[in-house]
Amino acid sequence: MAAPYVVEFEVEKDDFLAAGEGSGSVKDTLKMLGMHSAIIRRAAIITYEAEMNLVIHGGGGVLKVLITPERIEIVSSDEGPGIPDVEMAMREGFSTAPDRVREMGFGAGMGLPNIKRNSDSLSIDSTVGVGTTLRAVIELAGQGGSV
Ligand SMILES: Nc1ncnc2c1ncn2[C@@H]1O[C@H](COP(=O)(O)OP(=O)(O)OP(=O)(O)O)[C@@H](O)[C@H]1O
Ligand SMILES: [Mg+2]
Repeated sequence: MAAPYVVEFEVEKDDFLAAGEGSGSVKDTLKMLGMHSAIIRRAAIITYEAEMNLVIHGGGGVLKVLITPERIEIVSSDEGPGIPDVEMAMREGFSTAPDRVREMGFGAGMGLPNIKRNSDSLSIDSTVGVGTTLRAVIELAGQGGSV
């Protein structure tokens, strides 16, 4: 495989109709590459939660997934409002989602904790008024299937 294999897509602010399409296509790509189902599941959770955070909180942005034989790297970047306190945002149950979003079933404050749980490493760089970059890595170390 010519590495890295890259899947990149734009995510629109408040577009709940298209939300999930990007992470769905990442899932299809990983299947096509012969990844193990447990790895696909972890990557799908991370990309889906990161995608929803771009839709709901980040004002839209870009999700990029880089796949090599060694790792899957998921990078979400936006130029949205930023996160004032990343440590607090990482806590289970913490959410600033407005009521109209909660009525749709989001806003449990479980997205970032779920991303963390499914990543081997996670970094979040955020500046208020500038934007947020989240980088999650899944190490493959011989469990990546045919790639
Ligand atoms: N890209 C982002 N830009 C700005 N703020 C963000 C971003 N991602 C997350 N946050 C902040 O971090 C909080 C926690 O995010 P998390 O994904 O854990 O929960 P949630 O999105 O509120 O609810 P859930 O993911 O369970 O639907 C959000 O409520 C929001 O305040
Ligand atoms: Mg979320």
